[in-house]
Amino acid sequence: MNRRDWFRLGAIGLKGLIGLVLAVPGAAYLLSPLRKRREDTTDFRRLARLGDLEIGRPRSFSIVDEQRDAWVTYPATPIGTVWLVRQPEGAEQPVLALSAECPHLACKIKLAGDGNGFVCPCHASNFTLDGSRVKAISPRGMDTLEVAPIDPNDPNAEVRVKFQRFRTGTEEKIPLA
Ligand code: FES
Repeated sequence: MNRRDWFRLGAIGLKGLIGLVLAVPGAAYLLSPLRKRREDTTDFRRLARLGDLEIGRPRSFSIVDEQRDAWVTYPATPIGTVWLVRQPEGAEQPVLALSAECPHLACKIKLAGDGNGFVCPCHASNFTLDGSRVKAISPRGMDTLEVAPIDPNDPNAEVRVKFQRFRTGTEEKIPLA
C-alpha cells in the first residue's frame, strides 16, 4: 500500500468513528421516551404522611400525571383517585390503599354517607372499609394497591402508593398494561 491508500483507509476509519459517535446519543435519545414510560409505570407516588391519616377515616387522593405519547408530553391532569384507610395499631400494614375505580364499569367509588364504607353511585355497589363487597353488582371487591413499607411509629413517614389500573367486569383482578 502506498501513502495514498493509507490516507484513504484513515479517512474511511475516521468517517466510521464520527458516524458511531453521532449514532450512539441519537439512538439513546430516540429510545429514551419509551424507556422513561416503562420506568414511570412502576413508580410509587407519595400521597400523604402517616400523621395526615386518622385510623378508620378514609381520605381520597387524586393521582395527577403528565400524559405522553412516544414523543410529546402533555400537561398534568388527574388520571385517577386512591382511597387511603389508616389501619388500627398493630395491623400488619399501617395503611390500606384502594383504587376508587369501580371494578364493575369504572365509575368513581365514593365514601358512604355514614363514613363506614364505600358506595359506587352508578349501580349502587356497596363495599366495606377494607374494600370487600357487601351488596354489589361489581364482580369483585375494590382493588387494593401496593403501599411501600411504612414505619408505623413515625407520623412523618411517607405513604407511597403504586397506582395501577385493573380490568373491569372480571372476577379476577387483572392489571392493565
Ligand atoms: S360501575 Fe360501579 S357498580 Fe357499576
